[in-house]
Amino acid sequence: MKKKVLALLLCGAMAVGMLTGCGSKPADTPADTSTPSETPAATTPAPAETTPAPAETTAADGCPGVDGLNIGVCIYKFDDNFMTLYRTELQRYLEAGGATVTVMDGKNDQAEQTNQIQNFITEGVDVLIVNLVQSTAAANITDLCSAADIPVVYINREPDDDEKARWTADGTKATYVGADARQSGTFQGEIVLNTANKGDINGDGKVSYVMVMGDPENIDAQYRTEFSIKALTDAGMEVEKLDEQRGDWDQARGQEIVANALTNYGEQVEVVFCNNDAMALGAKQAIEAAGRTVGTDIYLLGVDALTDALEGVIAGSITGTVFNDHIGQSHAAAEAAAKFAAGETLDTLIGVDYIKVTQENAQEILDLLK
Ligand code: BGC
Repeated sequence: MKKKVLALLLCGAMAVGMLTGCGSKPADTPADTSTPSETPAATTPAPAETTPAPAETTAADGCPGVDGLNIGVCIYKFDDNFMTLYRTELQRYLEAGGATVTVMDGKNDQAEQTNQIQNFITEGVDVLIVNLVQSTAAANITDLCSAADIPVVYINREPDDDEKARWTADGTKATYVGADARQSGTFQGEIVLNTANKGDINGDGKVSYVMVMGDPENIDAQYRTEFSIKALTDAGMEVEKLDEQRGDWDQARGQEIVANALTNYGEQVEVVFCNNDAMALGAKQAIEAAGRTVGTDIYLLGVDALTDALEGVIAGSITGTVFNDHIGQSHAAAEAAAKFAAGETLDTLIGVDYIKVTQENAQEILDLLK
């Protein structure tokens, strides 16, 4: 299945203008992702019509250049739907390439994760791949790794621009591999704009919404929150924020927040934006329990393209989601690790594109992920 996915992603990347796993940068400026596409459908890949994947996509079987390496992987917590998909593919790809891989559960505790990193350093791993618990810990972790001359590849939680600038200035062997969360927010907004009433279901001239945020310290949560709404206002829509709560990426929290919002604001709620699919799946339960119908009297958006969410999009119980390409990201991270270990210098930011998912392409994405 991985070859098929890579074929989609490589070809899909042509449609969205970004190649996965090849070190290309995401759009640097918000402006690049904030303006809704004139033809949003063009951002959707058409896998059925794509040409066969290039020969190098067979690297999906195993990461080139990691044979014999000892690699430490730190995940912020194992109990996260998206990061579980990510780390499973990361470990598979590295091990299939011949690396020895140890994956640690940070249990959402930065002190615990910092200890794990110190242990990896003492053990003398060749390279570290780190999904920080707190992005703000990047400077400290980078210094620890750098002092031991161990390259570090950050994933999923992006260190800030000052920190990345420091790596460039000091020639530090550190990079961040990830997707540009502004794009995922913009895609959510565009999906709403593509509905018959552009999200203004009751025709009162404004889109009244509820925002369910991930962990607000995380830039993915910040940008998705900002850019989903920016896409609407950039398109000339008036918006009204009824409620915004942190759901910490968690399904049960998503359900609770949306259940409360529906109790408090009832029919006024036209759109529910969730920063990820886990929370959107919780929101879906709350929406159904409140007797509301997605697509008729409310819209619901997620991010990640988890299997359950894709099934929801196909069934119409979720309006749309955005594929957070864990395969492209995990492969790019593994390949960055291989390059660092081989002594190469890397950009401080290695980008992987998101893909917009609606009822039109949800089945194709689902088939490819199976
Ligand atoms: C994903 C979330 C996940 C978070 C973890 C985000 O990119 O969309 O589902 O919980 O990363 O940091």
